[in-house]
Amino acid sequence: MENQKKYNINDDIDYVMISEAELKELVTKIAGQIDEDYPDPTKKLLLLCILKGSVVFMGDLMKTIKRPVEIDFMKVSSYGSGTVSSNSVNILLDIHRGDMNNLDIVIIEDIIDSGKTMKYLTQYLKNKGARSIRVAALLDKPSRRAVDFDADYIGCEIEDEFVVGYGLDYDERYRALPYVGVLKPHVYNS
Ligand code: IMP
Ligand code: MG
Repeated sequence: MENQKKYNINDDIDYVMISEAELKELVTKIAGQIDEDYPDPTKKLLLLCILKGSVVFMGDLMKTIKRPVEIDFMKVSSYGSGTVSSNSVNILLDIHRGDMNNLDIVIIEDIIDSGKTMKYLTQYLKNKGARSIRVAALLDKPSRRAVDFDADYIGCEIEDEFVVGYGLDYDERYRALPYVGVLKPHVYNS
């Protein structure tokens, strides 16, 4: 039975930007591109989920990709709290693997904003010796870019609005909403 509560728009959400059905299409598109780009099932492919915002996207994507994948997790800090980006990237949870030089990695990220997190992380994983690194981002806010960075797979470009749901949070809330929505301004102003 469907959870009725989750399908009613949350009182704090101004409007739904990307519906569940649209999210499913975006995931299917990216999964197809990854299957096409990594056709050899005997080569290891690691989906590297960046906690916590990418966890829902990761779950749906790994089910939709047809080829075999391994999964792993890293946690990095970019936003302290609220909607303001910080300048430095800290690694809070790292991967420790002995097979980096035999590993093609696709980083699974919820959203690219300034680009600082992904620019730092791709370089960090290159330095660790990964054979190849690509980035799959569900959402991209190109108008916010502060550094030169482009993801390899992008679900959807969005305007400069703070979005929540489908894993994305505002102060740890709203991650479990099944859609991507825009918060009402009173939520951050109060
Ligand atoms: P960047 O280093 O500025 O590109 O930061 C990207 C990270 O900021 C994402 O992984 C999110 O955790 C967070 N972020 C950026 N924009 C939003 C948003 O609109 N909603 C929720 N989190 C966001
Ligand atoms: Mg994040």
